[in-house]
Amino acid sequence: MCGIFGIISSDNNAPTSTYKGLLDIEYRGYDSWGVAFLKDNQFKIEKEIGFLPKDKTFESAEVAVGHTRWATHGGVTELNAHPHTDCDKKIVLVHNGIIENYLSLKKELIGHKLISETDTEIAVHLIEDEYRLTGDLKKAVSNVFKKVDGLNAFVVSNGSQIVAVKKGSPVVAGSAANGSIVASDPNAILPHTNKLLFLEDNDLIEIDKSGIKLFDAHTLLEKDVKYTDVDWKYQGADLADFPHFMLKEIYEQPKVLLALAENASAVTEIAEDIKKAYGTYFVGCGTASYACLTGVYLFSKIAHRHVNFSIGSEFTYIQDYIKKGSLVAAVSQSGETIDVVEPFQIAKRKEATLVAMTNVIGSTLYRMADKKLMLNAGPEKAVAGTKSFTSMVANMILLAYATAGDLKAGVEVLEKSAKEIEKVLEKADEIKALADKLHTSKNIYILGRGLSYPLALEAALKIKEISYIHAEGFAGGELKHGVIALIEKNTPVIVFVPNDETKHAILASAQEVKARGAFVIGIGEEETEVFDYFFRVADTGASSILPMVVFPQLLSYYLTVKLGLNPDKPRNLAKSVVVK
Ligand code: G6P
Repeated sequence: MCGIFGIISSDNNAPTSTYKGLLDIEYRGYDSWGVAFLKDNQFKIEKEIGFLPKDKTFESAEVAVGHTRWATHGGVTELNAHPHTDCDKKIVLVHNGIIENYLSLKKELIGHKLISETDTEIAVHLIEDEYRLTGDLKKAVSNVFKKVDGLNAFVVSNGSQIVAVKKGSPVVAGSAANGSIVASDPNAILPHTNKLLFLEDNDLIEIDKSGIKLFDAHTLLEKDVKYTDVDWKYQGADLADFPHFMLKEIYEQPKVLLALAENASAVTEIAEDIKKAYGTYFVGCGTASYACLTGVYLFSKIAHRHVNFSIGSEFTYIQDYIKKGSLVAAVSQSGETIDVVEPFQIAKRKEATLVAMTNVIGSTLYRMADKKLMLNAGPEKAVAGTKSFTSMVANMILLAYATAGDLKAGVEVLEKSAKEIEKVLEKADEIKALADKLHTSKNIYILGRGLSYPLALEAALKIKEISYIHAEGFAGGELKHGVIALIEKNTPVIVFVPNDETKHAILASAQEVKARGAFVIGIGEEETEVFDYFFRVADTGASSILPMVVFPQLLSYYLTVKLGLNPDKPRNLAKSVVVK
């Protein structure tokens, strides 16, 4: 989702640094971009719809602000792209979030020339009025920030200063030898410095040539700047020899699993907390939500314990039973998803124990949590989660085994599944050939039972989010309760058939769809005559879902490539969803 970058640079290279910064955060998802820099006392703005061009060059300037926009208010147009300016192009502003009361704020503007359909543009004109009155950019920004409803981050410049303020959306700043930087993502600052300042809600920073000052956004009382020295490595756009990040990330999964197995004791303390908790609630969105759902099955099966699961955006409506002693575990690759941050805020107010299961050190969930369990999957740049899902499920497996007092068994099943994933990857060409056959399908259905039910949901999500082919995952048992009406001659139906207690029932479901003409694709250990196509994945016990999920990951990837689409940057989607 929207990315922000701003720099006051001592080497006069601000626009190019900003462009590079935007490339570092483009994985978050966007549909237009823009860079503004001061030229002859006015801001010059370069904006475009679509993705950042490779190897673009810019003029030199000391101050620049840039943005990657994911449209919310107003369509994807050049006029709606950020940065936005005041009437005289003396102030520029980039924004992440939604100004909920923008219509009433708009009424305060008299005699201003607005050119876009965005809520954002209102803010820069309000700041223009305040700046005229106060002559102090931080006061002007603070006064407008106080009026704005919603979760928002703003970065504003008058050409000599940059002021940033935030509530909700992440903002990080850094002080480097070549200047001071502000961005929505630490990765964009790491090429310049490892000394980072993470802004809390209602923090405001003022950057000028002398450095960064921190204030309370409401009172403007100055606060101490406390930098965190991080030892993270900058993750550039390194594809190695892969054509896309998604494929690279799929192939990284065995390595991720082995590293988690090696460091399995990381789950021990949280497993003890789960045992003591009044109730455990796993909360996540999208792919992470399906990993949470696997937790319900895994804890029941392995630890004979009930854990709860909620989609992040639904948590608000079922939170009444959370109390002191409850444990709420937020599961999120980015650690920034607003629909997970909000449940965490609710749980915090209720004094529950907060556990963050995330891939990003320093992210909002990471900083809010009492305890952290890192996914350690390495940076994931493709919008569709692959190795992050694997790591989430692997952590669930380890947690469940640790809760049952047999962590060693958890380590063993992870090691087994890492080996089996290697074997699936060796057969990627078979999946590519199947994708060549299926790419014209209008609908694909996926069936699973037990642990393979969340797997079926995740498989469908992967296919629809990047190939745009309609795909739905169902519990096999639901087939007769409506789903079977969808099956026509040659409808592709993927059926997950692990060697567990679901095997016979799911094979019966396969027979039923076959009898209605479906093209049945079986994934499991043993081929049977009901399958029109079979892909073998050996059983690895409670971790069988891990090698099996690689099949739909690769299938969705190859379907997408066959359709001429970019699997790393699906339309309308963002990697990090920080607005509601
Ligand atoms: C977005 C992405 C999904 C992802 C979800 C949760 O919707 O498009 O692929 O699963 O966010 O992201 P998180 O960072 O919280 O795991």
